[in-house]
Amino acid sequence: MCGIVGYLGRREAVPIVIEGLKRLEYRGYDSAGVALFSDGAIDVVKRVGKVSTLEEALRARGLKATIGIGHTRWATHGAPSEINAHPHLDCRSDIAVIHNGVLENYSSLKKRLLENGHRFVSETDTEVVAHLIEGLYTTGTSLDQAVRLALQQVRGTYGLVVMSRREPDRLIAARRGSPLVLGYADDGYFIASDASALIQHTRKVTYLEDGELAIISRNGIITKTLDDVEVRKAVEEVTFELEQIERGGYDHFMLKEIHEQPETIRNAMRGRLLVEQGEVKLGGLDHVRKKFVQARRIILLGCGTSWHAGLAGEYMLEQIAKIPTEVEYASEFRYRNPVITPDDVVFAISQSGETADTLAALREAKARGATVLGIVNVVGSTIARETEGGVYIHAGPEIGVASTKAFTAQLTVLAMVTLMVARWRNVVGVDQKLLARELASLPEKVARVLSRYDLIKRIAEEFKDGRNFLYLGRGANFPVALEGALKLKEISYIHAEGYPAAEMKHGPIALIDEHMPVVFIVPKDAIYEKVISNIEEVRARRGRIIAIANEDDDQIHKLAEFVIPVPRTYGFFGPIVNVVPLQLLAYSIAVARGTNVDQPRNLAKSVTVE
Ligand code: M6R
Repeated sequence: MCGIVGYLGRREAVPIVIEGLKRLEYRGYDSAGVALFSDGAIDVVKRVGKVSTLEEALRARGLKATIGIGHTRWATHGAPSEINAHPHLDCRSDIAVIHNGVLENYSSLKKRLLENGHRFVSETDTEVVAHLIEGLYTTGTSLDQAVRLALQQVRGTYGLVVMSRREPDRLIAARRGSPLVLGYADDGYFIASDASALIQHTRKVTYLEDGELAIISRNGIITKTLDDVEVRKAVEEVTFELEQIERGGYDHFMLKEIHEQPETIRNAMRGRLLVEQGEVKLGGLDHVRKKFVQARRIILLGCGTSWHAGLAGEYMLEQIAKIPTEVEYASEFRYRNPVITPDDVVFAISQSGETADTLAALREAKARGATVLGIVNVVGSTIARETEGGVYIHAGPEIGVASTKAFTAQLTVLAMVTLMVARWRNVVGVDQKLLARELASLPEKVARVLSRYDLIKRIAEEFKDGRNFLYLGRGANFPVALEGALKLKEISYIHAEGYPAAEMKHGPIALIDEHMPVVFIVPKDAIYEKVISNIEEVRARRGRIIAIANEDDDQIHKLAEFVIPVPRTYGFFGPIVNVVPLQLLAYSIAVARGTNVDQPRNLAKSVTVE
């Protein structure tokens, strides 16, 4: 949700900022811009569209500078246009601001600033910050003081960076609600929305906390609270490798990430699943063991794909660990005055660890006394830091906007949490060793599904012009149906709905005719025959059936037009395997339709606004 990069040092700023913006493009990609300080003035260049378009414009201008800031935008206030692209300037073009977040009181601030004679050019909320600073940046006031005073007036969220013509050797960054990371190298200093924009230059970083401000100069970085108290921050080491954030020969990040799943599932289990002993060790939960033993229930919070992971986790936790579990849309949770008590254990599930709705929901749960934990991918992210403990899923950087490997790693972690909670609560009848072996077998099963890619591409060719899809599954595979439909919608722009298979007859069956593809997830489990009846109902109405079915299922070939075989998997862990063909199907359809798979329209990787 908007990417920010800044550099100040001895090197040329343009390539550093542009390279950083390209790495952050997954956060927003409707327009991009830079501000560079050179020859006593701030030059701003903006373009609608991709960072590469901006790069061409900069090449044509041949600008040189050793201090620069850049922004890639996901529009909130004002349509994607050059005028609304960041950076935004004050009336005299002395101050440039880039911002990620939403300023809730911007219209009242703008009204007042207009009355005081400020001239606005954009429809954005961000521009008020430039004008507020302009008004407060009087003689004798430093830029950081003016920024601090301006931020006292705004309500909302921000990660922002400010540059001034009057203090050309400084950048001021501040954070409330939107992530910012500072980078330290021998020849300069960096600021960015996330570490992927920096690791090419340095691995030494510090994360700015909410309510903190950084003064970046040629002599170093000083961090303070917004109340002007200096904060000494530990420098941390970024551990992921550059190859992990590159495409590595694949056409798209999404395809690479789908293919990484055998490895990422293995990584999620590494050192935690002790197969021989049938045990799970999750160090980040040990200290709250008693809470789990005494818990009245578990609540799983998330949005989008992470919410789907929660739904599949609910089946595991209730059916195996026998603990009441609720799954909540984080975006709804905090507005419905939820009944939460100190006996509740809450997990916030988030790939990015920055989703504004999930963060707000976990704060709500915390304020009401629950034990709040995280299942998060991005190490050091806000959700990871604001929870009392939790489990990293260790999927590595996920760049494709459509989440894939994070989903299967989230489910793997939820499965391990389930086994551990079952043991802690002495649940009888759980064969821990058997389930541990089942978990250990998942990477190989997922690899087997990946080998069906050519078949899936052929199916995609057949259905690429479809206008609607239905995805149906029952039990633990109902969330898989939802996830399959979400993937297709996100990247191919085909309307798709996921439903519990038996619910079809209560309404969606009216949609079925010879043009409607219906994807059934139909493993040979206890409700197999029931799903077969649902398939018959679709057949009777001439719907076109694609079945995700077990490799040894002979009957299904007589009923479905296309069958994608998947290995048999223990029921509640089935979603980890059964979702993979649906990821590949959505991907292949999107490629066949020629959409931008990694950066689908209107979306952004981490949704840091409400
Ligand atoms: O980073 P998070 O897991 O918190 O993100 C939640 C959703 O925004 C995310 O899963 C979204 O639905 C993806 N685009 C799904 O592919």
